[in-house]
Amino acid sequence: MSHTFSSPFSLDLSLQLIRLLLVLPLLPISIAGFYPADHFLLACGAPGPVALPDGRVFLPDSSLSSSSSSSLSYSSSTSIPPLYRSARAFPRASSYLFPLHPSDARSGLVLRLYFHPFPSSSLNLSAALFNVSADGTALLSLFSPPHGLSHPLPKEFFLKTDASSLRLTFSPSPPSSLAFVNAIELFSAPDRFVSDMFTSIPSDFSYSGSPLSDYLLETLYRINVGGPFVTAENDTLWRTWEPDNEYLQTPSRAKAVAFNSEIKYRRGGASPETAPEFVYGTAREINTGNSSNSTLHFNHFNMSWNFPVPNSVHGYFLRLHFCDIISTALNELFFDVYVNGYSACKDVDLSSLSRYTLASPYYIDFVVEDRSNRGGITISVGPSARSPPWKINALLNGLEIMKINGVVSILKINKKRMHGGTLICSVLGSLTFVCGLVALAVALVRRKRVTDHMPRLQEVVTWSPSPMCTGTGSSYPRLTELANVSPSTNPNHQFRVPFVEIVLATKNFDEKALIGAGGFGKVYKGVLRDGIDVAVKRCTRESQQGLGEFQTEIEVLSKIRHRHLVSMIGYCEEQSEMILVYEFMEKGPLRDHLYGSRKPSLSWKQRLEICIGSARGLHYLHTGSAQGIIHRDVKSSNILLDENYTAKVSDFGLSKLGTHSNQTHVSTGVKGSFGYLDPEYFKMQQLTDKSDVYSFGVVLLEVLCARPVIDQSLPWEQINLAEWAMPWQKKRQLERIIDPALKGKTDRKSLKKFGETVEKCLAQYGIDRPAMGDVLWNLEYALQLHERAVHQEPHNDSSSLNTHQAGTSSVT
Ligand SMILES: *[C@@H]1O[C@H](CO)[C@@H](O)[C@H](O)[C@H]1NC(C)=O
Ligand SMILES: *[C@@H]1O[C@H](CO)[C@@H](O)[C@H](O)[C@H]1NC(C)=O
Ligand SMILES: *[C@@H]1O[C@H](CO)[C@@H](O)[C@H](O)[C@H]1NC(C)=O
Repeated sequence: MSHTFSSPFSLDLSLQLIRLLLVLPLLPISIAGFYPADHFLLACGAPGPVALPDGRVFLPDSSLSSSSSSSLSYSSSTSIPPLYRSARAFPRASSYLFPLHPSDARSGLVLRLYFHPFPSSSLNLSAALFNVSADGTALLSLFSPPHGLSHPLPKEFFLKTDASSLRLTFSPSPPSSLAFVNAIELFSAPDRFVSDMFTSIPSDFSYSGSPLSDYLLETLYRINVGGPFVTAENDTLWRTWEPDNEYLQTPSRAKAVAFNSEIKYRRGGASPETAPEFVYGTAREINTGNSSNSTLHFNHFNMSWNFPVPNSVHGYFLRLHFCDIISTALNELFFDVYVNGYSACKDVDLSSLSRYTLASPYYIDFVVEDRSNRGGITISVGPSARSPPWKINALLNGLEIMKINGVVSILKINKKRMHGGTLICSVLGSLTFVCGLVALAVALVRRKRVTDHMPRLQEVVTWSPSPMCTGTGSSYPRLTELANVSPSTNPNHQFRVPFVEIVLATKNFDEKALIGAGGFGKVYKGVLRDGIDVAVKRCTRESQQGLGEFQTEIEVLSKIRHRHLVSMIGYCEEQSEMILVYEFMEKGPLRDHLYGSRKPSLSWKQRLEICIGSARGLHYLHTGSAQGIIHRDVKSSNILLDENYTAKVSDFGLSKLGTHSNQTHVSTGVKGSFGYLDPEYFKMQQLTDKSDVYSFGVVLLEVLCARPVIDQSLPWEQINLAEWAMPWQKKRQLERIIDPALKGKTDRKSLKKFGETVEKCLAQYGIDRPAMGDVLWNLEYALQLHERAVHQEPHNDSSSLNTHQAGTSSVT
C-alpha cells in the first residue's frame, strides 16, 4: 500500500534534463520579468516533456510511475491544448511531495491543477470523483472535473505554508471511485501578491483574525474588462483572463475602449505581475450614447457586472483593476464603486491614486461577504458627484474574484509520516535548481528592472476600512464640520499622497514608529512603497490654528527646495486628516546632540558646519527665489540633521510669506518660542527677517554652551542663556562659559569670530543686526580660522590648540 520511490533520478529523466537544458534559452525567463524561487511544472502521465506556446516546458512524471497509479495519454487529437493530452489516474489516495524554498513561507505559492476527463480505453475518467488536499487542507471536495474544453481553465489556488515541503494528495471519494490530474503547476508567488490592505464589504463585516494572505484562496473569475481573452503567454504570471461580455449587465450602457500607447507602471501602483498591459490597456467606460440613441441622454447610470458564486462562509477576495486610459487631462475622472449594492469607494480619483500620471495602473482590494446569500457578486461603477459636467464617466479595466476557503493554518509544519503512494518530486527540485541558476544569470542582468516593479513593502498592515473606501454605514469619522475647508485651498496637487499610502508607510501609525510628539500632533518614521524613508507628521485638528499652520507649511514647502531646508515629500488632506510627509532626517534635531541626551558630543568643526548649513537655509528663505519668507520659529529643535550631519531647517508652520521690497515688515501677533524671541518684535509686533537673525543668534549660543536657552534650575542670572552669555561676550571672556567638551579644542580666533557674530545677531534693534548672508559669511570665516589652526604645525604658538589635541581626530 505504501510506496516510496527511492531512486527517482532515472536515466530517462537525466536525458530529459539534458534536453531541457538545451531548450532553456527558450524558457519564458527572458520574456516575463518575474522569476519565482520555485517553479514546478509537471505534465502528469505524459510520455515526454510538453512545451507550451508560452515557452515553458512541463516535465513528465512518467519515470515515477508506480502500481498505485497509471499514466494515460490521449494523443489522438491535437485540437486540445497539449497539457490536457495526458493524465495520471489514482485508484487510491496518492500524494506528490514538493520541496519548497524558504522564501515561499513569506510570498506564498500559486498552484494550478489541470483537469480534462478525456476518453480513454482503460479507465473512465468521466466517472472520477475525488478530493484534493494540500497538507491536509481541502482544496477540492467531491470534485468531478467538468467536460468541455471551450475555456480550458485550470483550478487555481493561492496558498501559504511555512513547511519545508508541500504534499498534494488526490483521494478518490468514495474510495471505489477514481482520481486523476493532467498537469500540476506550482510556483512561488511574487512578494505581497495578496496584501492585507483591503476594504470590507459591507463595512461591518470582519473576517476572522488571520491576515488575508494566510487564507487559502481559490480563483473564481479573472476578467479582462472590455478586452479579449488573454492567454498565459501574454501574462506575467501565466494567468488567463476572460472577456467580460458574459457578465456585463445592460451592455448598451457600456463601451469597450482600448489604449494604444504605453501603460506606465509606477512604483506604488500596480506592477506588471499584478496584471499585464493587456488587461490595463483595455477597459469599459460609460456609453455616452449618440443622437440615434435618444433614450440615453443622461449618463448618470452605472455599468454593472454580475458573477455567480458558490456560497462560502468566509467570503470572497475581490480585486478591481483600474488604469485611466480614457482621460486627456488629470483630475477629470471621478467615479463611485459599488459591490453588491454597497458603496465600496466614493469619488475614486485615479489621477491622485496613481501619483498624477495618466495610463498608470492601480488596483483596489476588497473582502466581500455574501451576506444575503444571493449567490452572486455584483460590481457597479458609475459617475461620482465630483465628476465635472463635461466628464460624466466611470471606468473598469479588470477584476479578479477569489473564494476565501479558510485559514491554511493546518498547512503549517506537517511532519507526519507519509501515507499512501508518494511521488517524490525532489528530483524536480534539483532540476528547478539548475533552471534557477540559468534564470539567476538572466535575472541578474534584469534585476534592476524587476525590483523597480516590485512593491518593496516588508510588513503586513491590518487595517480596515480605508477612509477613501468606506462602506455604507461605516463608523469611520467623517468630519463634516470641516467641509468649509475645501481641499482646493492647497493647489499643490503634485504633492498629494493618498491616505492609504500613509497608512501603509507607517504601518497604520504604529506607536513603535513614533519619533516625536508635540502640541501639533505626532511624528512617525515611515517607509514609502518605493522604499524611501520619510517622517510623517500627523497633525491634530484640535484648533483652527492647527489647520492654518498646516496649510502655511504646505504653501511654503511646495515653493522651496534647498539642501539646507527639510523638503516636503507630500501631504495628505483627506477627510479628517492633516498629514505632512518629509524627508527622513536620520540624526534628528540638533538640540538632542547638544544636551539632554546621551549622544556623543559634536566637535567644534561639526558645530560650525551645522551652523553654516542652517544659516544657508535661512539665508535662502529670506532672499532666495521664494522671496521673503520669515521662519519665525528658529530654534535648535527645528534644525534637523541627516545621516551625514547636514543641517536642515524644518517646521515652517509659523512662517510668514511675502515681505516684498516696498514693505519692510509684517504686522502680526507675536509667535515663536520663549527664549529665542526677538525683544524688538516682542515690543513692536513688527516682524522682519531680523527676528530670525536674533533667534539664530540664540541658537549659536546654544551650540557653543550646550545648555537649554531657558533653564529654571540655574541661579536666576543664568536662567536665560542670551542674557547670561552676552556680558561674557562683551568682556571677551566667552571661552569661560563654553561647553566643557569644547574646552581646549577650539581655536581662539575662531571662537572670537563666533562670539562677535553672536553679539551682532543679538543686537537690541533689528537694524543693528546683520543680514543672514553676513552671518553666514562670518561663520564660514570662523570655520576657516579653525581649520587653519588645526592644520598648522603642532608647535606653532599662534594656535591655542595644544599639540595633543591637534593630533587627535576629535578635532575634525
Ligand atoms: C472528501 O471530502 C468530503 C467532503 O469534505 C468528505 O466528506 C470525505 O470524507 C472526503 N473523502 C476522503 C476519501 O477523504
Ligand atoms: C499575445 O499578444 C500578441 C501581441 O499582441 C497577440 O498577437 C497574440 O494574439 C496574443 N496571444 C494571446 C494568446 O493572447
Ligand atoms: C449605482 O448603483 C448603486 C448601487 O446599486 C446605487 O445606489 C446608485 O444610485 C447607482 N447610481 C446610479 C447613477 O444609478
